[in-house]
Amino acid sequence: MKIEEYLEQKRLEVDQFLEHYIPHTQTTPAILYEAIRYSLFAGGKRIRPILTIASAEALGQPPKALLPVACAFECIHTYSLIHDDLPAMDNDDFRRGKLTNHKVFGEAIAILAGDGLQTLAFELCSRPDLVHDVEPQRQIQVIYELALGAGNQGMVGGQVLDMQAEHQVADLATLQQIHHHKTGRLIRAAVRAGALLSGATPTQLDHLTRFAEHIGLAFQIADDVLNVTGTQEELGKAPKTDAQRGKQTYPALYGVERAQALAQECINRALDCLHPFDHKADPLREIARYIVNRRH
Ligand code: IPE
Ligand code: IPE
Ligand code: MG
Ligand code: MG
Repeated sequence: MKIEEYLEQKRLEVDQFLEHYIPHTQTTPAILYEAIRYSLFAGGKRIRPILTIASAEALGQPPKALLPVACAFECIHTYSLIHDDLPAMDNDDFRRGKLTNHKVFGEAIAILAGDGLQTLAFELCSRPDLVHDVEPQRQIQVIYELALGAGNQGMVGGQVLDMQAEHQVADLATLQQIHHHKTGRLIRAAVRAGALLSGATPTQLDHLTRFAEHIGLAFQIADDVLNVTGTQEELGKAPKTDAQRGKQTYPALYGVERAQALAQECINRALDCLHPFDHKADPLREIARYIVNRRH
C-alpha cells in the first residue's frame, strides 16, 4: 500500500473514532464542546495516533484498545496546539486552515478547551469499556507514557524552554533539547504506547524508542523549515512567524538547505533503528520518510 493511502485510511479510522467518542456540541456546557470539536476536527494530519497504530502493527496483533489510546495522543496534541497559539504563547491567528481557537471562542474558553482535551485523553485510555482487552499492568504503563510525553519533562517542559529561548542565541545542544521536549517526547510516547500495547519485548521497545527520538527531532526541524519555505495555503497557518518571534530553529542556525539535510540524517538514523523489524514495520519506515518530504 502506498503511504498516502495508508495515512488516509488510518486518518479516517482516527476521525471516526473521535467523532463517535468526543461528546457532541449539544452536551452541556455546549460552548466547551464546540471549542473542543472546532480544533479537533479542523483537519490535522493525525500523525501521532497513526504512529501509535503503525508501531503496534509493526509487532503483530494489536488489541482493540489501540484506537482509544492512539486518539488520546491526538487529544493531547490538539490541546498543545490550542495553547501554543494563545497570545501569551506564540500568538497565532490561524491553525489547520481556520482561525485559531481563541480568535473564535476567546482566550478563557480556548484555555479550558485545551484543559478539557487533556483530561479527555486520559479518559480515553482508562475507560473500562474501551480498554478492556489489555492487561492492567500494560494499560498503566501506557497511561504513564502518555503522562510523561505530555508533561513537565515532555511537551509542557519543552514549551517552557521554547519560550525562554526566544530572542536568545541558542547553541545546537539547547536547540535539540527544546525540540526533543516540546515535540519529540509526545511522538516518542505515541510510538512506545503502540509498541507496549502489542506486547513489545524490552529490546523491541528500545529500538522503537530510538526510532521515535530521531523522527521526533526531524519532525520539528521539518516544521521549522516549512515555516520559512511554506505558504499560508499549504500550511494552514501563517508562515515566517519563527523569525519574527526570534524562535530558535535549525533554519535560523544553519539555513534551510543544511537544516533539510540534517533532518534527512535524523531519518536515516531512524530507519537504521528499524533493521531488526520485518515488512510489518514498512508503514513506520514510510511515515519517517514522509515527515521530511511533506509540504504541510
Ligand atoms: C504541528 O504539528 C506542531 C508541531 C509539534 C511541530 P502537526 O504538523 O502534526 O500539526 P497537525 O496536527 O497536522 O495540524
Ligand atoms: C509546536 O511548536 C510544539 C507544540 C505545540 C507543543 P511550534 O510552535 O513550532 O509549532 P507551530 O509551528 O505553531 O505549529
Ligand atoms: Mg510554539
Ligand atoms: Mg507555534
